[in-house]
Amino acid sequence: MCGIVGYVGSNKSVEVLLGGLRRLEYRGYDSAGIAVIDPEGELHTRKRAGKLQVLIDDLDAANIANGSTGIGHTRWATHGGPNDQNAHPHLGDDGKLALIHNGIIENFAELKAELVAAHPDTVFTSETDTEVAALLVGLEYQKTGDLAEALRNVVARLHGAFTLLVLHKDEPGVVVGARRNSPLVIGLGDGENFLGSDVAAFVEHTRRAVAIGQDQIVTITSDAVRVTDFDGLPVESQEFEITWDASAAEKGGWSSFMAKEISEEPEAISKTLLGRIVDGAVRLSELDVLGEGALANIDRVVILGCGTASYSGMLGKYAIEKWARIPVDVELSHEFRYRDPVINDRTLVVSISQSGETMDTLMAVKYAVAAGAKTLSICNTQGATIARESDAAIYTHAGPEVAVASTKAFVAQVAALYLFGLHLAQVRGTLSPEEISGLLGELQALPDQLATVLEQHDAITQLAGWMTDTRSVLFLGRHAGYPVALEGALKLKELAYIHAEGFAAGELKHGPIALIEPGQPVFVIVPSPRAKDSLHKKVVSNIQEIRARGARILAIAEQGDAAVLPYADLVIPIPLASTLFEPLLAVAPLQIFAMELAAAKGLDVDQPRNLAKSVTVE
Ligand code: F6R
Repeated sequence: MCGIVGYVGSNKSVEVLLGGLRRLEYRGYDSAGIAVIDPEGELHTRKRAGKLQVLIDDLDAANIANGSTGIGHTRWATHGGPNDQNAHPHLGDDGKLALIHNGIIENFAELKAELVAAHPDTVFTSETDTEVAALLVGLEYQKTGDLAEALRNVVARLHGAFTLLVLHKDEPGVVVGARRNSPLVIGLGDGENFLGSDVAAFVEHTRRAVAIGQDQIVTITSDAVRVTDFDGLPVESQEFEITWDASAAEKGGWSSFMAKEISEEPEAISKTLLGRIVDGAVRLSELDVLGEGALANIDRVVILGCGTASYSGMLGKYAIEKWARIPVDVELSHEFRYRDPVINDRTLVVSISQSGETMDTLMAVKYAVAAGAKTLSICNTQGATIARESDAAIYTHAGPEVAVASTKAFVAQVAALYLFGLHLAQVRGTLSPEEISGLLGELQALPDQLATVLEQHDAITQLAGWMTDTRSVLFLGRHAGYPVALEGALKLKELAYIHAEGFAAGELKHGPIALIEPGQPVFVIVPSPRAKDSLHKKVVSNIQEIRARGARILAIAEQGDAAVLPYADLVIPIPLASTLFEPLLAVAPLQIFAMELAAAKGLDVDQPRNLAKSVTVE
């Protein structure tokens, strides 16, 4: 939520900043801006409402000066609407200082009042919380003449979440950053250094990165990097290597990042399993840090996540309870910590987050740590804050996910949760080695099976093309099909702006069936007729109930499922998979459907309105 990039080096910073912003635009796309110090020491800023391209076009027209020190910002509005004035950077010290911000300064109104009381002639040009910080750092600079010290003095007074980057025309060749509860990463170059909200900001220039810890200040010049805490004391930082290259975050010929990322789902699953299955058993060496016996002693698991991540968490619950016979609760991160939950040192809290930066989840993890629970995170982004705040982390290896709507990260999260469930079953002895080996075999078969499902992309595109005037779509599933139904509905809402709801199929008769009227499209996720449970029959009965009331049935069912055919208007066939594994095959058609319906309506599938990928505000 808001993307931030900073650069000091010998290249033209405008190009570096725009390249970084292009890769960070998924974090927010209401407006964008840059500030650059030119070789004569003049500070230039340019900011425009709208997508990054609006700024780029404006910069072309303005022919903004060269300069090798700069900061850039892409915004997701919190305080103040998305217009030119509220776009970042904001200025301080009579226009000599520029500042950008990601997060929310919760006490900005008090700070603003204090500022106005002390300096009644202060002129505000925006409605943002950020401008107050820019003005305060400017005043501190006038007193100290030192940018890092000025920023340090101001962050000590800020409440909330922030990453701030600041530069001053009197300190050309320097960018200073600070972070609390919002991400900031350093990129180490040769004669140049970078700052970014995540490594995507600079991965095309360097693969050497350093994550900045909570409450730390960083100063970069072209040949040095200095990190201190908020008291100015030096801190040690750990360098890591970025494991993917810039091409992984390019569209590579696909019509959208989302289309590309769906096509990468088989690989996302296989890479997440890679090296973690040895001789038919699970080997998760990243859990060793928890200490011997730690997992054998827990008596409860709580899974936390938001949106799509919470749906993968529901599947994690079903799998862990079935295989490891331990109670599991799944909660939305933002609900969890406000209701005084019962957790203790025998609780394992598992947080799920693609970005690893979602503020709601981060705060819930911190709450769990403070309450003495053991914490494990499942994250897709190396060095992410949530992973660093947790006792242990299992990284999914889905690669960078750029489209705002989560796709490949979801299947990778489910694969990681299933590995973890089987690991727990191993530790607790609730499944035999043969059973575990068999289930792992089913998991390993999924990437190839999913590849065959993706071959139906064109047929699903055609279906989407017929439905552009549809005003409401319902999704039904039972057991493991239920989270898939919820995910299908979420995708359709966020991409195609169509009313959609997911229901547990059994719940329909308790109220929602009243929504069914002739012509109502309903996607139904049908369990395998060969699964050793009665789910299939029950879902077919639910289909008959709504079909009788005029619903149009769009079934996702096992290839050759004869019981569904007579009642379905259309069947999207998927290969045989047992109940818990079916979601990994059934979700892709729903993702494709939502994406293609949005595309057919002429909408931007990678950057849907009002959204941002990494939600770093509560
Ligand atoms: C939906 C979507 C969101 C995210 C949610 C959590 O397509 O992408 O619902 O799943 O905001 O994000 P992470 O996983 O980064 O914590």
